[in-house]
Amino acid sequence: MKEQLEKLKKDALTAIEVLKDGVALENLYNKILGRKNGELTELMKSIKDLSLEAKKIIGPLANDLKNEIEELFKQKREKLWQDNFQSGLEKERIDITQPALPKITRGSYHPNTIVQRELEELFVSMGFTVVDGPELESDYYNFEALNIPVTHPARDSHDTFYIKNHLNWLMRTHTSPVQVRALQKYGAPLRIIAPGRCFRNEATDACHEHTFYQLEGLVVDKNISIANLIDVMKKLLSGVFKKEVEVRMRPGFFPFVEPGFELDMKCLVCKGDGCGACKHGGWIEVLPCGLVHPKVIQAGGLDPKIYSGFAFGLGMTRLVMQKFGIGDIRVLQSGKINQ
Ligand code: DAH
Repeated sequence: MKEQLEKLKKDALTAIEVLKDGVALENLYNKILGRKNGELTELMKSIKDLSLEAKKIIGPLANDLKNEIEELFKQKREKLWQDNFQSGLEKERIDITQPALPKITRGSYHPNTIVQRELEELFVSMGFTVVDGPELESDYYNFEALNIPVTHPARDSHDTFYIKNHLNWLMRTHTSPVQVRALQKYGAPLRIIAPGRCFRNEATDACHEHTFYQLEGLVVDKNISIANLIDVMKKLLSGVFKKEVEVRMRPGFFPFVEPGFELDMKCLVCKGDGCGACKHGGWIEVLPCGLVHPKVIQAGGLDPKIYSGFAFGLGMTRLVMQKFGIGDIRVLQSGKINQ
């Protein structure tokens, strides 16, 4: 028994000495002095089976050892705590001579979002409703219903991405399909805008992108005329440029309007005299528009003898680039911050 105690003492001393963390220390404590199955605890329990003589010698020895080991544990606990505290302090040390962290700048809305919201607000103030249409569109709504049959050459400029094995489905090439969808859904009188993403199979460069934004407008009611169209277009442009603008119309061809127009705005920089911004013409081409073709009214489920309307397609991406002075269309989609 005496040898056992001595061995236990030797092992305990070395083990306590080398330990470096609190959890391991407590585990070792339980292994030696735990109430259940602690090595020394068990040894002490077995003292009662010794002869009286042996008890007299082993008893005090075991007690002393117990006290000694308890004391060692206590010291070690304190030491570990001290060490941790010290290294904690070290970690928390603040070097007040360090330079300040760079200022964190806030992000902002994407230019597209800013312009889209501004336009939505403007049109809502004129009694328009903002509606949405699917980006994955059917051939019918994207072309047929807009008076662009399969063989129509206008399809050439609207090459897009088709869905494999589902050639009736494509990524919409313009927001005009929402015209027919909205007419079918809401009937007349109708005043809507439909801003959104469009797609074309373009070779990309600074001016061309496979994904871009348009804003479609449609008004259908009884007795709608070109005068209404011109008035709304003027309000739209003065709202965007925060100035009174002068407009002019030239004939333009789009299968879904009759007559169709290209609407130009008098250059705000030179007031029509001609400058670099308007390529010296005094006018800037801004948006295509026209009176809704009877076939489109019909596709929308209304009688073109009763109802008429006007529509326009604003190139929102182009407007964003002008407004923010963005020279390369690709940055709008790239997600790279510092180009
Ligand atoms: N959807 C045509 C395009 O992307 C633009 C357009 C032209 C829309 C005339 C219209 C319109 O509503 O009346 O090329």
